[in-house]
Amino acid sequence: MRLPSQGLSKESILAELDALKAQDTQSTDGRLWSLVYYHSPEVHELAQAAYARYIAENALNPLAFPSLRRMENDLIAMVRHLLHCPGVGTLTSGGTESLFLALKAARDYARARRPHIAQPEVIAPLSAHPALDKAAQYLGLRMVHTPLTTEGAADVAAMEAALSERTILLVGSAPSYPHGVMDPIPEIAALAASRGLLCHVDACIGGFILPFLERIGVPVPPFDFRVEGVTSLSVDLHKYGYTPKGASVLLYRDREVRRHQFFVYGGWPGGIYASATFAGTRSGGAIAAAWAVLRYLGEAGYTEAARKTWEATQRLRDGIQQIPGLYLVGKPAATILAIGAHPPLDIYAIGDALAKRGWFLDRQQKPPSLHLTVTVAHAAVVEAFLRDLEAVVAEEKHSASRAMWRRRLGRTVTHTALRILPSRWVRTLARWVSATARNPRPSRRTAAIYGMMAALPSQDSVEKLVEDFLDKTLEG
Ligand SMILES: Cc1ncc(COP(=O)(O)O)c(C=O)c1O
Repeated sequence: MRLPSQGLSKESILAELDALKAQDTQSTDGRLWSLVYYHSPEVHELAQAAYARYIAENALNPLAFPSLRRMENDLIAMVRHLLHCPGVGTLTSGGTESLFLALKAARDYARARRPHIAQPEVIAPLSAHPALDKAAQYLGLRMVHTPLTTEGAADVAAMEAALSERTILLVGSAPSYPHGVMDPIPEIAALAASRGLLCHVDACIGGFILPFLERIGVPVPPFDFRVEGVTSLSVDLHKYGYTPKGASVLLYRDREVRRHQFFVYGGWPGGIYASATFAGTRSGGAIAAAWAVLRYLGEAGYTEAARKTWEATQRLRDGIQQIPGLYLVGKPAATILAIGAHPPLDIYAIGDALAKRGWFLDRQQKPPSLHLTVTVAHAAVVEAFLRDLEAVVAEEKHSASRAMWRRRLGRTVTHTALRILPSRWVRTLARWVSATARNPRPSRRTAAIYGMMAALPSQDSVEKLVEDFLDKTLEG
């Protein structure tokens, strides 16, 4: 596409946008089990109106837009109160930026104290979010991943064993994204404190629902600043806070640590450049909309949303566990579940069959599973989902044993082929994977491909294939 020589009419553009959007997965009817956190039409409309009022404003310079600074401070204050933070905070654009800044602050805080460490290390359980690995890669840190317990939680003994004189930070999740399991934050924080290290809690996904689950009597393991030794914590507003994308809060117990996240450069002809976060220009819309939604829902609104979400999660848990052949991965403690299948059932084939019935669940690995982030929007569809899940499992059981032999054969062939094929052929395979992954209604072949990818000889080859996939997808 090129820039049109003459601008088009507003009506035709909006019609085109509607047509484009019609190709997307619906995100308000509870059929999508990740990516979107939809509360209600009222919250959506309020957020839109608030966003529109600040669509052009830029939070880069707090002096130019004192109203944005005020809203930012209000947001941080509300979140600090919710999570018992005695210190300070920053508003960021999302979980990835919050984690990036937590690692940057930890790196530079450690650098100031222990300048001899050439490559500082961060220890996190295998289930920790890859935004940490991304941040570590950008920042020149080494991520050390430790194994999980059989319940899917961080194994603190393994974390202790991974400590070295280069360690600067320990991380735990509340809860983890893949399986919704709470890491033992008190133990991780105590270990960090005993060595004089920092401890970050990734509550990006849980931080805005766990406090409300606690209010309705759910036994929530300690995870916030009431735990001694927790030095920073990230919580996304654009997840269970139900605000538009682009809002997360990073909290620190100690103001001194936060200083290390800032960037100031005094040598620029354009003036002294100061930026507290990663982004330079920052959307005023996301800030105003988050401010509006938090104040609209309030304690009562979030508590009610948490209650509905918890009840939906319990119905799902029971329903899934009653379907022979399926199991829940780990010991989920909040409102996130992962469904696994016992052989010969293939959970990826079940995911494909569910997609044909209009349900969209992310595929996970180690072990193979389907992901469910339960939100208030799912409360209305639990029974319909369980009915379809049961029906799909029954269908799959029929074909499972035949398919198992086909898959085994396929994997053996893939293994051998990848060892002997030239890289040009591997690239062709990658193109085939991308084409299939782009298909909004995946076929049974998709399951076969996931199975095949699981059989690739090393993580490196999978990463290479996915890199090719990204390269292709972003060619426009
Ligand atoms: C636990 C956790 N941490 C970090 C992130 C990254 O957040 P974002 O996608 O907003 O950058 C996520 C996203 O799902 C998450 O679940």
